[in-house]
Amino acid sequence: MVRRHFTFLWILAIALFVGCSSGDKDATRAAGKARDFYTIGMSQCNLGEPWRVQMNADLKAAADKHPNIEIVFKDAQNDTLKQRAHVEEFVSAGVDLLIISPKEAAPLTEPVAKAVDAGIPVIVLDRAVQGDNYTCFIGADNKLIGKAAGAWLAKKLGDKGKVVELKGLMTSIPGHDRHSGFLEGIAGSGLEVIFEADMKWLEPDARKEMDSALARFDTIDAVYAHNDPGAHGAYLAAKAAGREKDIVFVGIDALPQEGVAYVAQGILSATFQYPTGGAEAIDTALRILAGEEVPKKIVLGSRLFTADNVKQGGEPL
Ligand code: FRU
Repeated sequence: MVRRHFTFLWILAIALFVGCSSGDKDATRAAGKARDFYTIGMSQCNLGEPWRVQMNADLKAAADKHPNIEIVFKDAQNDTLKQRAHVEEFVSAGVDLLIISPKEAAPLTEPVAKAVDAGIPVIVLDRAVQGDNYTCFIGADNKLIGKAAGAWLAKKLGDKGKVVELKGLMTSIPGHDRHSGFLEGIAGSGLEVIFEADMKWLEPDARKEMDSALARFDTIDAVYAHNDPGAHGAYLAAKAAGREKDIVFVGIDALPQEGVAYVAQGILSATFQYPTGGAEAIDTALRILAGEEVPKKIVLGSRLFTADNVKQGGEPL
């Protein structure tokens, strides 16, 4: 009996040593410290755009700093049905926490609610779902960014001009908010939206829509695109038509290697930062897993980049 007790203590001591000393995820898991090791499922709506690749990289970099968590990524390849299935798979697998960046609000609302009902905390990142059946939403204020873009453009154009608006997917909340915010920002100015189209966040679609706008209108003073790939697609269309120098291009995202680089090169006149929230999501996940209360909504800041401030790293909104 005493001997059995002794052997057990030895096994426990070895398990603790392996778990604490190596700092390695496999060792921590193998040590059997079940409740000290957590699996986070991450449902990404697509990896077709650099911004989403950056979001996953930010999540991974933050998760890698913590030996007691692992993050499993699924890419829905811009397919809502696939993303719904991914959420259901994570729930059946019994992940400890789910992070989701949903493609569209309405169709992902129910699977998220089901995960919550199954006892899995859910962090909704960047694009919101409907209602409030989730644990925490993290994202920047899209309405504020849209409004700032409108006000900036009105000032830049001296309160008059013809604008093309290339919208993000209008079944997603950022698309709606960046649109309504922009209208608020230009209200009372002489700016007029002469052409608007849903380019679904995609550069090739933005380019096609801008081709149509250029064919229809002899005068276009500015393009407001809901993201930098959209603004860049519009720029390429205008350049092919020899009209890019007559037009002010404004985008959103401000990744260093994308929108900020476009501003530095003089392709875009302005871009507004939309942070990925990857690091904040992991920080919040750890707090939830530790049993802490977290705010229902975490609003991230934004920065404006223009030719005047790009060298200094932009300025806060
Ligand atoms: C990437 C993206 C970003 C945009 C965000 C909005 O898929 O389109 O460019 O800022 O999603 O949710």
